[in-house]
Amino acid sequence: MNILVTGGAGYIGSHVLKLLLKAGHKVVTLDNLQKGHRQAVTGGQFVVGDLADRKLLNKVMQENKIEGVIHLAADSLVGESMEKPAKYYFNNFINGINLLEAMVANGVKYIVFSSTAAVYGEPKEIPIKEENLTKPTNTYGESKLFFEKALKRYEQIHGLRSISLRYFNAAGADPEGEIGEAHNPETHLIPLILETALGEREKIYIFGDDYPTRDGSCIRDYIHVNDLAAAHLLAIESLAVKNKSAVYNLGNGEGYSVKEVIQAVKTVTGRDFPVEIAARRAGDPAVLIASSAKIKEELNWQPEYYQLEKIISTAWEWHKNGGFNK
Ligand code: UFG
Repeated sequence: MNILVTGGAGYIGSHVLKLLLKAGHKVVTLDNLQKGHRQAVTGGQFVVGDLADRKLLNKVMQENKIEGVIHLAADSLVGESMEKPAKYYFNNFINGINLLEAMVANGVKYIVFSSTAAVYGEPKEIPIKEENLTKPTNTYGESKLFFEKALKRYEQIHGLRSISLRYFNAAGADPEGEIGEAHNPETHLIPLILETALGEREKIYIFGDDYPTRDGSCIRDYIHVNDLAAAHLLAIESLAVKNKSAVYNLGNGEGYSVKEVIQAVKTVTGRDFPVEIAARRAGDPAVLIASSAKIKEELNWQPEYYQLEKIISTAWEWHKNGGFNK
C-alpha cells in the first residue's frame, strides 16, 4: 500500500515506519521535527512539514497516491496538557481534523490512529476493556478521545474507515539497535531509570508509595514498541481487506509496579543506583492494565517481547550505546 505516516520521526512512529518498510509498503513520513529525529526516519520518503498545512497534505497525498494514513503525530505529555490545554486541542484535535479533511478531499479511505489508555481516566475495572467508560482526567486523553469521536462521524458522513489503537505504556527499542526512545525532556519511567543506571542522573524518584497496590507504587502495563508497531501493520492491512472500523487496546495484560520496574532494571543492567520516594505525580491513576483480548482475537496480534526484562534489555542496549548520539 501507499501509506502516509504522520509523526514517523517520533519514538513509536519510527518503529512503525521501519516495520512497514520491511513489509514492503511504500511509505511517506510527515513530521515537523518538533520532537522527532531526522535519524529516526530509516527509509521511504521524508517530508518535513506540519499537519496544519493543508496544501502540503494535499500535495503529499496526490503525488504519492496515498491509500492509507497512520496518524501518530501529536503532543503526548499528560502534565504539559494540564498547563497548556490549547496546545493539545490545536495540535491533537484541530490539526487532526485538517488531516481528515485532506483525506476526504483526496479519496483516502483508511486511517490507523494512535490513541491512548489516557482516554479511560481512572478505571473502574481492571483489566480495562474497550467498551469501558471513557472519562479522561487530562487534556491529552481528552484531545485523543475527541479525535476518536470525530473518526466515528467521518465514517458516518464520509465513509472513512478507522482503527484506533489505545496504547498503554510503550517501552523498549528496536532490537536491531538502529532506533529507540529519545525524548527531550524525558519524563517516562524506563528511560529515566536507565539514565540513572548509566550515572547520567543522580537518582530515580518513585512518585508515590502510598497507592492501594501490592507495594504502594503505581502499576502499569508495559508494551514493547515493536509489538505496538506490529499492531499498526495488522491494522492498516485489515482496513484494506475488511473495510471495517474498530477500537483496540494495546498492552500485555500484565502490570508491573514502579518498584518492580526499578528492580528489573537493576537485574538487567547489573548496576545499582539510588532510589528515593517522592510525592505522587498529579493525575496518575494507581493501576492501568489492558485487556488486549479483542485485538488478539480479531487481528491475530501476538506480542513477541512481553517479558518486562526483555523489554528493558532492548532499551538498555539502545541507551548504553548512546542512542542517536552514538
Ligand atoms: N514514575 C516514577 N518516577 C519517574 C517517572 C515516572 O515513579 O521518574 C511513575 C509514574 O508516576 C507512573 C509510572 O512511573 O506511575 C509510569 O510513568 P510514565 O511517565 O512512564 O508513563 P505514564 O503511565 O504516566 O504515561 C503513559 C504515556 C502517556 C499516556 C499514559 C496513559 O506516556 O502518553 O501512559 O495512561 F497517556
